[in-house]
Amino acid sequence: MDHPDNTYHLSELHVDAALRGRGIGGALLGHAEGEARRQGRATMSLTTTTVNPARRLYERNGFRVVETRTDRDYERYTGIEGRHLMVKELA
Ligand SMILES: CC(C)(COP(=O)(O)OP(=O)(O)OC[C@H]1O[C@@H](n2cnc3c(N)ncnc32)[C@H](O)[C@@H]1OP(=O)(O)O)[C@@H](O)C(=O)NCCC(=O)NCCS
Repeated sequence: MDHPDNTYHLSELHVDAALRGRGIGGALLGHAEGEARRQGRATMSLTTTTVNPARRLYERNGFRVVETRTDRDYERYTGIEGRHLMVKELA
């Protein structure tokens, strides 16, 4: 999926499985947002699979799904229907 112009794109977000559910992912998102604002970016963006519960974390932090793309080959290889592009406006 194409990212918006002047976006701060998060390509990966991972927390050690033993430490999840304690707010670390949210804190990392907040840290990334600080960096995005420092760089003067207009938006933040990321993609996530259509089945990933992380979507709730992103929505709680102001991201919205702006595009969903499904692909039969992707589904055949991964068992997952597709991906969402999520964007947060920083203005
Ligand atoms: C997504 C991830 C970074 C969140 O880290 P965290 O420290 O647990 O985050 P927080 O404690 O701040 O927030 C917990 C939220 O994570 C999401 N979550 C819960 N289980 C999850 C899972 N198995 N996989 C992904 N996200 C999950 C939920 O939105 C949860 O909030 P909710 O239950 O209130 O809706 C972490 O679950 C992870 O590393 N998952 C595996 C990798 C991954 O899926 N990364 C995202 C790729 S887009």
